[in-house]
Amino acid sequence: MKDTTEIRGPCAPLSWEEGRLTILDQTLLPTVERRMELETVADVWEAIRALRIRGAPAIGCCAAFGLLVALRERAPGNVAAAARVVKEAAEYLATSRPTAVNLFWALDRMRRAAASCAAVADVAEFTARLEDEARAIFEENLRICRAIGDHGAALVRDGDGILTHCNAGALATAGYGTALAVVFRVHELGRRIHVFADETRPLLQGARLTAWELDRAGIDVTVLCDSMAARVMREGQVQLVIVGADRIAANGDTANKIGTYGVAVLAKAHGIPFYVAAPSTTFDFSLPDGEGIPIEDRPAEEITEAWGVRTAPGGVKVYNPAFDVTPAELIAGFITEAGVLRPPFQDALAVLRTG
Ligand code: MRU
Repeated sequence: MKDTTEIRGPCAPLSWEEGRLTILDQTLLPTVERRMELETVADVWEAIRALRIRGAPAIGCCAAFGLLVALRERAPGNVAAAARVVKEAAEYLATSRPTAVNLFWALDRMRRAAASCAAVADVAEFTARLEDEARAIFEENLRICRAIGDHGAALVRDGDGILTHCNAGALATAGYGTALAVVFRVHELGRRIHVFADETRPLLQGARLTAWELDRAGIDVTVLCDSMAARVMREGQVQLVIVGADRIAANGDTANKIGTYGVAVLAKAHGIPFYVAAPSTTFDFSLPDGEGIPIEDRPAEEITEAWGVRTAPGGVKVYNPAFDVTPAELIAGFITEAGVLRPPFQDALAVLRTG
């Protein structure tokens, strides 16, 4: 893994140029903006695992390009060997993080593209076909994010306060975001809005990433400790909540960053609509409800000594699930590329199964 240039530009979370995969290392934000090249498939796995690149759609895009990194690294001599490299690398990258279904969706799509190359003459053509597929996954996500922004903008009035949790912005996607796509679009339309960004313990994606993205876009943002959300809701400062998602079951139960469930309960208690913005690729129709969603457990040190400061006694027991599941009944609607889908979700979500 090698550091490349220091940057100040649009916050593209990853790029694929001239056969090289680079990411913006999100663990260093907001103080350092550094792009790094992922040179090996082990680099790609580590970058996803360590949250250098994170957010469900961005993980999927990174893994898709990661298979091209594997092909360059292993330099297979024929098409059969290239297919084996793709299969093994896909199995390996699938172990990097368990919850965001976009990772598995993207790897499956790349595997299908590889399988369709059986009659291809040489490794160069095989690689070119996989590169086209990875680029398509990336470009499609960009278009979907724009559509989510367009549909979601209809929900927001001039002067509204919007609360969000974690980071579902450009950094978490191919670019432009899901929950923050709505914010960006409303801002582009000239409506005045105010965003409350939960800091999002323990890894502070809200404070470090959401506030960074909105601030540099000139959007009015206030960072809150997670425990302050109830108070700003009670004060009447929040008109709607919009969050992203990592995996949504067929009945609408939604896994997102730990703490999202609590925000949804608070929104219900205060009569505030709670929306989930997500692409169709985040829906997992193989799961009837949220019970089956695998929830990632992260290291205890993220809670006891994040940022190099010990904040709990050594050896104390720690529980650190990275995600929780918000029951569908707390969700006012899903903002998707197919429009805003409202309850009853079993029926409403059908458009994503066929579309
Ligand atoms: O652990 P993270 O930072 O990858 O968690 C990310 C989230 O929970 C996001 O809200 C989700 O992936 C949606 S991204 C558009």
